[in-house]
Amino acid sequence: MDIIIKKDYEQMSKCAAEYVAALIHKKPNCVIGFATGSTPIGTYRELIRMHKEGLDFSNVIAFNLDEYYGIGMDLSKPYAMDQSYQRFMHEEIFNYINIKKENIHIPDGLTKNPEEFCKEYEEAIKKAGGIDLQLLGIGGDGHWAFNEPGASLDSRTRIEKLSKQTLDDNYEAFYKSAGFLRDDMPHYAITMGIGTILDARSVLMLANGYKKAKIVAKALEGPVTNQVTASAIQIFKGEAIVILDEAAASMLSEAKSSTSVS
Ligand code: PGA
Repeated sequence: MDIIIKKDYEQMSKCAAEYVAALIHKKPNCVIGFATGSTPIGTYRELIRMHKEGLDFSNVIAFNLDEYYGIGMDLSKPYAMDQSYQRFMHEEIFNYINIKKENIHIPDGLTKNPEEFCKEYEEAIKKAGGIDLQLLGIGGDGHWAFNEPGASLDSRTRIEKLSKQTLDDNYEAFYKSAGFLRDDMPHYAITMGIGTILDARSVLMLANGYKKAKIVAKALEGPVTNQVTASAIQIFKGEAIVILDEAAASMLSEAKSSTSVS
């Protein structure tokens, strides 16, 4: 595992975008696993900027990690009323790059048959040749995607109940945008499993800010446990890169945190 520590969020985001761009240059038809949340927004801005300078997404295939269950892109509502990850991805990146619509895969939060959908999602990833690079954040409860504490480390794409901490962490966005009451926000999500993520050829995990410092240290240096599903990075067999800002890295052991500050 390579841990890269950058001064701040902007530098972290630039570094992450450079990794993604390098892969696209090397393999124009690469399969990228995309993530949502506040963490990758800077990376997506940088990728949009790179696209304006010529970075070509026309053959890139995208698979998103997860989606709330029970919501989807609702075209009858203004964008800001809609907290679906469909909306997020289109608004934060896909609308501004030349990725083909048919190459975008985001779990369907409105599917009537989630079990069948999840099976098909796994099959679609396989059919695309597997994920070359999976982008990841880390939740306040240590989750990767919506693999909450207790999720099996060999889990596959499925419906998962959101933890209390995830509901607390994500509630503000729902409340701010649409005045959702806490009980009305989705309590379930469709998520790739940890096993699905571990099948990727490389992973790029990002975290920034002091509020992530403790859980980052647990995931990277604590025991591998399904109570902190991001700790699965320690058993990842491919190339694992972690890019942190100094704040998120501040509780790592001395040796790690002094490795690669730039
Ligand atoms: P965040 O979420 O980027 O909004 O902190 C990360 C996650 O839940 O994986």
